[in-house]
Amino acid sequence: MQPIDDVATLFEHQRAIRAFADRPVDDAIVHEVLRAAMHAPSSQNAQPWRFIVVRDPAQKAAMSEAYEECFLKVYGEGAPARADGRQPWTEVPVLIVCCVAVPGGRSNIATGASIYPAVQNLMLRARSLGLGTVLTTLFRLQRDRFHAMLGIPAEWEAAAIVPLGWPDRHYGPNRRPPVETVVMHDRWTEPAANL
Ligand SMILES: Cc1cc2nc3c(=O)[nH]c(=O)nc-3n(C[C@H](O)[C@H](O)[C@H](O)COP(=O)(O)O)c2cc1C
Repeated sequence: MQPIDDVATLFEHQRAIRAFADRPVDDAIVHEVLRAAMHAPSSQNAQPWRFIVVRDPAQKAAMSEAYEECFLKVYGEGAPARADGRQPWTEVPVLIVCCVAVPGGRSNIATGASIYPAVQNLMLRARSLGLGTVLTTLFRLQRDRFHAMLGIPAEWEAAAIVPLGWPDRHYGPNRRPPVETVVMHDRWTEPAANL
């Protein structure tokens, strides 16, 4: 995929990429997408995030095995994403585990809202450079297993795992309905358009 400078175009071309070329991802790129992540907003500007950059084949193999079990549990053999040529995580160049602080184990709406903007920044910056990503949370079905293998301490949660790599092929824009199908004015009513 081509790099994208224009922000409006970037939003339209940010989409889930689950298969990657056999091409390494430099540390400089990882650094840059994480730098972008850290410019995200967070509740009370706590910046309550940590990122584990996984490149080690053994670690990726363990994560891949656990993730496949999660995937099978939800979708079974008829998993829709398989049709997209989804790769196992063993073949993904980099897996970025995005963690959020959960002090006292208590989470509320601000908890997720203080990590997912950073995840989105990471993914948009990656796409702007021509790389693909996908936000995943299915691994949470095996939350304890992932936390153990990654050594994530108490009071932190793995909120997303983002595979990162050069896409295996060209992907066009994402597909979304028109704005009018979801927007109301002045109070809750039926959206103007129901497509
Ligand atoms: C909260 C959340 C959890 C997601 N979890 C997964 C996941 O575990 N595995 C996966 O392959 N995609 C996951 N996705 C990606 C969605 O499937 C994807 O964003 C959606 O299908 C839109 O894809 P598009 O932008 O390419 O149109 C997740 C997305 C979100 C926002």
